Amino acid sequence: MSDSPVVRLEKDGDIGLIIINYPPVNALGPGVSEGIIESLNTANADPSIKALVLIGDGRSFIAGADIRGFGTGRKHLPLGQRTYDALDASSKPVVAAIHGFALGGGLENALACHYRIAVPSAKLGLPEVLIGILPGGGGTQRLPRIVGAQTALDMITSGRHVPAPEAALLGILDEVLPEGADLRQSAVAFARKIAGVTPLPRVRDKTVTAEPGVFEAMRKSVARKARNQKAPYHCIAAVEAACNLPFDEGIRREAELFAELESSDEAKALRHAFFAEREVAKLPDLPRNVVAHEFTAPAVIGAGTMGGGIAMAFADFGFDVKILDATPEALDRGMERIRSNYATSVKRGSLGADEMQRRLARIHPVGGYTDIADSDVVIEAVFERMDVKKPIFEKLDDILKPGAFLFSNTSALDMDELASVTKRPEYVAGTHFFSPANVMKLLEVVRPSKASPETLMTAMALGRRIGKISAMAGNTDGFVANRSRAPFNSEMVILLEEGCLPEQVDRVMVDFGYPMGPFAVGDLAGLDIGAEGRRRRALANPNYRKLPIADKLVELGRYGQKTNAGWYRYDKGDRTPRPDPEVAAIIASVAAELGVPQRSFTDTEILHRLLFASVNEACRILEEGKAYRASDIDVMWLHGFGFPRYRGGLMFWADGIGVKNVHAQIAAWHQRYGERWAPSLLLRTLSETGTPFLEAKPAPFV
Ligand code: 3HC
Repeated sequence: MSDSPVVRLEKDGDIGLIIINYPPVNALGPGVSEGIIESLNTANADPSIKALVLIGDGRSFIAGADIRGFGTGRKHLPLGQRTYDALDASSKPVVAAIHGFALGGGLENALACHYRIAVPSAKLGLPEVLIGILPGGGGTQRLPRIVGAQTALDMITSGRHVPAPEAALLGILDEVLPEGADLRQSAVAFARKIAGVTPLPRVRDKTVTAEPGVFEAMRKSVARKARNQKAPYHCIAAVEAACNLPFDEGIRREAELFAELESSDEAKALRHAFFAEREVAKLPDLPRNVVAHEFTAPAVIGAGTMGGGIAMAFADFGFDVKILDATPEALDRGMERIRSNYATSVKRGSLGADEMQRRLARIHPVGGYTDIADSDVVIEAVFERMDVKKPIFEKLDDILKPGAFLFSNTSALDMDELASVTKRPEYVAGTHFFSPANVMKLLEVVRPSKASPETLMTAMALGRRIGKISAMAGNTDGFVANRSRAPFNSEMVILLEEGCLPEQVDRVMVDFGYPMGPFAVGDLAGLDIGAEGRRRRALANPNYRKLPIADKLVELGRYGQKTNAGWYRYDKGDRTPRPDPEVAAIIASVAAELGVPQRSFTDTEILHRLLFASVNEACRILEEGKAYRASDIDVMWLHGFGFPRYRGGLMFWADGIGVKNVHAQIAAWHQRYGERWAPSLLLRTLSETGTPFLEAKPAPFV
């Protein structure tokens, strides 16, 4: 009884099963919606079928519309003739049987069925806002009719995945099956039970009203997160329509709002981010059969800010982790910092007190290297100096069992040199976390030349096991994330020499979408940290562009928030950056000493000076084969540096400006400012051929 290769109709006695088979997650790809409608028509015309079950093959019910089809001018089934309408209008009851995910169009189809049951592990949600659109399959009209306006607004503007037991409490599910129950059999039994019920319960027949002020309050509450974006506001407007209009008019309003979003810049950028995050996991030059090793006994060396954060990341994801430092005092201080970080989360309400105790109990401070001899993966996170790290690697190599992995949380040091002090360089790689390590999602995996494919896969998988997005980087100074960011960091200080102020640059970048301006971030991280790297690079390279204003601040003991003075001044106990006339005076005096003429800047020039500098460096990274693809750099900027997601990432954004425009501006600045703006070879080639950055073919990975 197969009507379509992606949807088939089977019979179990008097129950018809419409089964979707569109791997890997049953998105509503080509033919799926049509297949559902066709099966539904066949079943409704078959007198031997009393009721129906809509169910997915494989690992999921339906993960939503096929995102790859968005913005491609794909054909939509007209309103009134979509699966939702057909399910809703079916004369025989339809039971949605949910496992895995019912997301977006998946949940919307389920809501158009007459009954919904699920296994306990199923997740349901309307995550469209996360890709810059709104639920366009009736979700904004049906969900509020079940859960009320407020809960629908919360679910639709956050896009969160609701676990099945919660969905049942909210009334979205009629039944959650017991653990281990067979979904297909249970759904058939359920369908038999309700066959013949009249009238059929249809969500569209319910009504919903909202308390006065709900929508205005919601608009206010999303304002900060939704800066520069339309989708969250359109989601709210669509739910408002559910409360104010009859169902069919509400559906029309939803469709109008959807159409305004599908091809918007933010939707394109967010779709790009979605696929880039999946692409980054792929290591195309490794043999296909390589698998990551499972690990059970991680250890962290160094209980400083980074080491502590890494240990927390393990504990947060259920791993018992050992932590070691050179002295008992340093270890105590580290554990105290960990406790205080967790306590802050409890105070803020983002972590329960019990959960804090459970996580703390998973972090085991240990006194010596022999205590970690059984560890199968060790992450070293000590002071960022080769002469400090090397003896630790030698010691680890001696005591760890064969096959244990040795990773370093260096942010810039040569991983080949570090690996060379061990007798197991094939088991050594870099795992560069971003501060705070338990919060920031990026894990940059650094690939030394001798690392085995298993080691690289293991490091990438390790990141994913502790909630990170892992991205592979070549072993080059600063690796990929920081190397591509470095010119931005220099340029923002050079702008000051020419007459900008930190607060002006920060305002431009916050308007662009960063959560904080780069100078305020510098104060948070500590200005002394960057000074060490600059000293090292200046020693190594006589042409290194020094940053005398930044050096002067550090010389004056202005280290940032920790000294209540950095690029800004801070009142005691208050982290609000306040523009400081003293900083303006320091800038003016250094600029006068350097003899740099002062001028004013437009917002666009500031933005482009910072970001184009990085785009040019990103091109060098690609032409040297230090990253697999331009979109990996986007992922790094999104998750390492807080680049606004709705702008897609550095390279996606640059493609929006256009490769020729970027090149022309960089070439002009090369003329004006000299060598540091020399266009990279790849940038010139892309510009000549009109090839977008995201289509650049990098050199083979080295
Ligand atoms: N469309 C197209 N491809 C999709 C997809 C979708 N909706 N959802 C997942 N995929 C693809 C992924 O790109 C990936 O492809 P790859 O193997 O080639 O890289 C593959 O399916 C597996 O996905 P994941 O690696 O993400 O698998 P996970 O198990 O980690 O996660 C998931 C599964 C939670 C379903 C996750 O993929 C996800 O969040 N998907 C998007 C869900 C979504 O946004 N749905 C709404 C779509 S918009 C919509 O429905 C509009 C409607 O209102 C009209």
